[in-house]
Amino acid sequence: MPELSLNILDLCENSFSAGASLVKISIRELTLEDKLYLSIIDNGRGMDRSTVEKVSDPLYTTKEGKEWGLGIPFLKQTADLCDGSFTISSAPDSGTEITITARLSHIDLPPLGDLAKTIEVIISGHPDKDLLLALQRDSNTYEFSTGIIRSELEGVSLTDPDVLSFIERDIEDGVRKLELKK
Ligand SMILES: Nc1ncnc2c1ncn2[C@@H]1O[C@H](COP(=O)(O)OP(=O)(O)OP(=O)(O)O)[C@@H](O)[C@H]1O
Ligand SMILES: [Mg+2]
Repeated sequence: MPELSLNILDLCENSFSAGASLVKISIRELTLEDKLYLSIIDNGRGMDRSTVEKVSDPLYTTKEGKEWGLGIPFLKQTADLCDGSFTISSAPDSGTEITITARLSHIDLPPLGDLAKTIEVIISGHPDKDLLLALQRDSNTYEFSTGIIRSELEGVSLTDPDVLSFIERDIEDGVRKLELKK
């Protein structure tokens, strides 16, 4: 995938298709270790062991009318190409956690892309679900949570255009202030 954000979008869609009401995205850049950590954690229906073994295979999908599923294989490929690791931990009714690490300075590491826009797209497609975004670069952190925004909105939908553009700007500022490398 040309950008990490698009891969994140795909994994969030996987989570919501699996019935998740909450998805947590965490992106951490530790420059001294030259390491990127990316994880997507959901509280969806999870997978049994034999499914977990199959999901990194591009020929595995449960989407109707499709012959391949590329979201997870792409993320794994990024880890493999960039001297990193790929872990998936999932069990029926216990949600799913997918984590990769990668060498931050690796030439094959895709750019992050437009994370703020991506999160906006995810939220506008699933306004009743919750999303938590945690970003870190060394000792600096940024967090965004639909739960907090929702409680302040007093009934206004997250799909309200003003709300969506506020969210996008907030995340854009967060990314800029952290000076994420990717
Ligand atoms: N978070 C998850 N919870 C439960 N099942 C999942 C989760 N993520 C993936 N799966 C299962 O693994 C399959 C493969 O996922 P993957 O993202 O690789 O491909 P896809 O979603 O089927 O297709 P694509 O991403 O190419 O549109 C999914 O069809 C789904 O059955
Ligand atoms: Mg997918």
